Amino acid sequence: MHSSSHHHGHRAGEASAKATNGLILQGGWRYDLHGWFFDTCLFRGKGRELRQRAATLAQLQPGDRVLDVGCGTGTLALEVQRRVGSAGRVVGIDPGTEQIARARAKAARHHMPIAFQVGVIEQLAFPEQTFDVVLSTLMMHHLPKSLKVQGLAEIARVLKGGGCLIIADFTRKQERSGLATRFHAGGSSLSELAALVADAGFAQVEMQEMPPPRFSAFPGAGFVRAYKSADVGMITEG
Ligand SMILES: C[S@@+](CC[C@H](N)C(=O)[O-])C[C@H]1O[C@@H](n2cnc3c(N)ncnc32)[C@H](O)[C@@H]1O
Repeated sequence: MHSSSHHHGHRAGEASAKATNGLILQGGWRYDLHGWFFDTCLFRGKGRELRQRAATLAQLQPGDRVLDVGCGTGTLALEVQRRVGSAGRVVGIDPGTEQIARARAKAARHHMPIAFQVGVIEQLAFPEQTFDVVLSTLMMHHLPKSLKVQGLAEIARVLKGGGCLIIADFTRKQERSGLATRFHAGGSSLSELAALVADAGFAQVEMQEMPPPRFSAFPGAGFVRAYKSADVGMITEG
């Protein structure tokens, strides 16, 4: 797309990315190497399993339009593109410029037409009702509560009526035991996250837990799946 509005949206996204209160990650390929080491040696493959499960929970259909919020280096978006096929359209946004550069390189290597853009959850540069599915993995714990609320409202705006939201995040530090207590990243409580999702106007809010395996530093994670009410945004007659 070459319209001036597109370029304007892109720059606006980059500007708000610099101002975000979210914890931005950088590192590009070093992030992927670090992630591979953690997942293989310490998490017993649970990181990979988590992204696969998030994609499965979304019940993706060929041709779906999908947004990955806080996409990092794009690993989940690549998996999503495989599942929605060439008729599908996948977009990933993240404020980390190095993560976006790495994600673009990975998509190019796999000949996948994924649009990776610098951007933030609190100001999504897309019109209302653009996406069938919005996903976000291991990202919510990077945001203060006010930003989570703002971000969920933005997701509700860009999702189509009946569209699906999937969030996966680490467990809270206080809810861990054993080796997992040493893992640095503190997540959100699953029920708190689900309550925020419901407050943002989503329906059919479900939670699923992914407990840590024995002898692993994986801190445990949880999923929230919810749907935007089909009648939201529709003009009612009468
Ligand atoms: C732990 S990483 C997870 C990345 C990826 N989703 C994955 O599963 O590997 C969290 C990501 O959230 C991003 N992030 C931080 N603040 C954000 C914001 N305001 N909006 C969107 N993403 C944000 C960070 O830059 C980082 O890439």
